[in-house]
Parts: sequence; structure tokens; C-alpha cells
Amino acid sequence: MPFLKNTWYVAASAGELDAPMVSRTICNQPIVLFRNSDGTPAAIHDRCPHRFVPLSMGKRVGDTIQCGYHGLAFDGTGACVDAPHDDDSQKARACIKGYAVAEKHKWIWIWMGEAADANPDLIPDFGFFDEEDTIACCQGYTHMKGNYQLISDNLLDLSHIHYLHPEVHQGSNFEDFTNKVKRDGDTVYSMLYRHHYHIDAAKRGMFGLGEGPEDVEGQGHSRWDVPGVLFVDTAFWDHGKTIDEGYRTPNAHLITPETETSSHYFWGSGRTYMLDVPQVTEMAAAVMKNVFETQDGPMIEAQQRDMGESTDFLNHKPIILKADAAGVMARRIMQQKIRAEAGETILQDAAE
Ligand code: FES
Ligand SMILES: [Fe+2]
Repeated sequence: MPFLKNTWYVAASAGELDAPMVSRTICNQPIVLFRNSDGTPAAIHDRCPHRFVPLSMGKRVGDTIQCGYHGLAFDGTGACVDAPHDDDSQKARACIKGYAVAEKHKWIWIWMGEAADANPDLIPDFGFFDEEDTIACCQGYTHMKGNYQLISDNLLDLSHIHYLHPEVHQGSNFEDFTNKVKRDGDTVYSMLYRHHYHIDAAKRGMFGLGEGPEDVEGQGHSRWDVPGVLFVDTAFWDHGKTIDEGYRTPNAHLITPETETSSHYFWGSGRTYMLDVPQVTEMAAAVMKNVFETQDGPMIEAQQRDMGESTDFLNHKPIILKADAAGVMARRIMQQKIRAEAGETILQDAAE
């Protein structure tokens, strides 16, 4: 299935652009990202039109990238602004594709369609990254050899937590949890209510809840947006109190296709306690990275290996369980949008 073009994908964390440039394949396109001297991010095709070498093998010269082979230089719009060994007439012909980019909520977003259609207001809200006075955040990246929609499926079906991450629900009665799924426009919500969540004294301390009962209330609510951008709002609080009196850890899971069978998994996590302790931020990042690399990642990669080069999991006729409702809904939305973009008739699938 082709990739959706007219949508925002995460291309990098804002901090990654402290480097002179970042080279990354997105939706099969080689792209090089950099930051102009005025701070604005830029993204251009990572391929010199002269000998087709990656521009990222060159170097930054002011607000341009100079090709490392014969010196053509390109600015952040993709215009060739210097052809040192030729006359200026070639410059106009040498321009390459420039992409619309936006910096929002500490991520760099790229619009893979026509730049004129890119509207940063369409980027889903991850405002918690900006609430620095009340929420401390970590950000990270994991590469996964799996189609991006497999990762969305994983995040929209939190029934996997009990088995793949048993330490998370240790002591809790998972059967007591309830899940509600709903669609609002092109957004899917999967709300997990943990009516009785077990939390021992050590965890209470870790989450800043102080002394108290081991049985608390909790939630793990996911919001999915096109193309695979998820906000997971996790919280725990004492029975009889409000969520605002508890511990909250909002999470971002931002999945960008690299190729049909590999993905960039950008993630971030916030917390509402011990805001000024950088070691806690580092520890949170290390834990997340370890979980994705050693637990979710191997499962998703095994799924992709079984599918071979195929990208549409539903074509393989899997058994659909109740917990798949949100994932299937998200896949339907993607399928409809991709077909609509391609100008095809949208057919109702028998499974709908
Ligand atoms: S290959 Fe880039 S200038 Fe020749
Ligand atoms: Fe997981």
C-alpha cells in the first residue's frame, strides 16, 4: 500500500538538529534535515542532481549544504544557490525537492505532500512537552524492522501489556480492567480503565504518591491520529481522589515509516513528579528504550518476518479479537485516506 503523502510525519526530535545535519529515509525518500542560522528547520531531498550522491556526505556552508563531490550548494528550499565550477544558468535547473517542515512540541514534523498544502495547525496536540513547569519529559528513538501500522496496532491493543510487559500489571487483576473504543472524525480513542491497579510501597514512592493503599485507580487512554501518531495518557490516583491529585505520565508514540517494512519509532514520556531530577529523566528514557528494544520490538519484527515483504496485515486474514477494535478502526481510516489520495473508489471491505 502506498504511503499517505498529505500528512505530518515526525522526522526528528528538535534536539537532533543541534547536529549540522540529519540524514533519514522517510516513506522511502532520502531526506536531509538541518537548522538554518535563524533557527528554522529545513528538509530537502538527500540526493545531488549532478551525480546522485547523498548531499549528507557533504558539509554545511552557512544556510546551505554543499555537495561533497563537486560543490553544488543547496539551501533549505532545495534551490541550488552555488555552482562554483559552472555558469549560473545551471543553478535553476539543479534545484531539488524541498519539504515543508514545522517545529512543534519539541519535534520536527515533515509534510510529504505538496508544501503549499502543509498546515501546522493539523499537527496533533502534544502540548505536554511544552509544559516545562509541571511536566518533565524525555525523548528517544528506536528503529524497528516492521511496517508502521504494526506498531500502531501494538499501541492500540494494550491487552499485550499483561503478557509482554508483565512487570507493569504485576499484582493487578487484569480482568477487572475495561476498555472503550470510539472514533471522532479521523481520530481513534482507546480508553483503558484500570479500576483496581496494584501499586506497592516502592512504586508509590517512585510515582510520588507517598504512603497509602496498594489498590489505586488508573487509566491508560490512547489517542491515535493519522498516520500513526499516538498520545497515551497514563495516570494513577488513590480511590476517592481526582486524577489531578495522582501521578500522571503522558506519553508520545510517533511512528514514521522508513520503508514499507521498517519504521522510525520516536517516543517521549512525561512525568508530574521529581521534575528537577535529571537522573529520573535519564532513567525513564533508558527504561522505555529497553522495553521497545527487548519486548515490543522483537514481537513486531517477528510479525514482519512472517509477513515477508507484505504490508497489509489484514490481507493475511488474522483472527480478530475484541481488543483489536481500535487497531482495525485506525487501519480502515488509513486505507480510506490512502485510497482517497490516490483517487481510487473507496470500497467497503466485507470485514467492516
Ligand atoms: S555530485 Fe554533487 S556536485 Fe557533483
Ligand atoms: Fe508494549
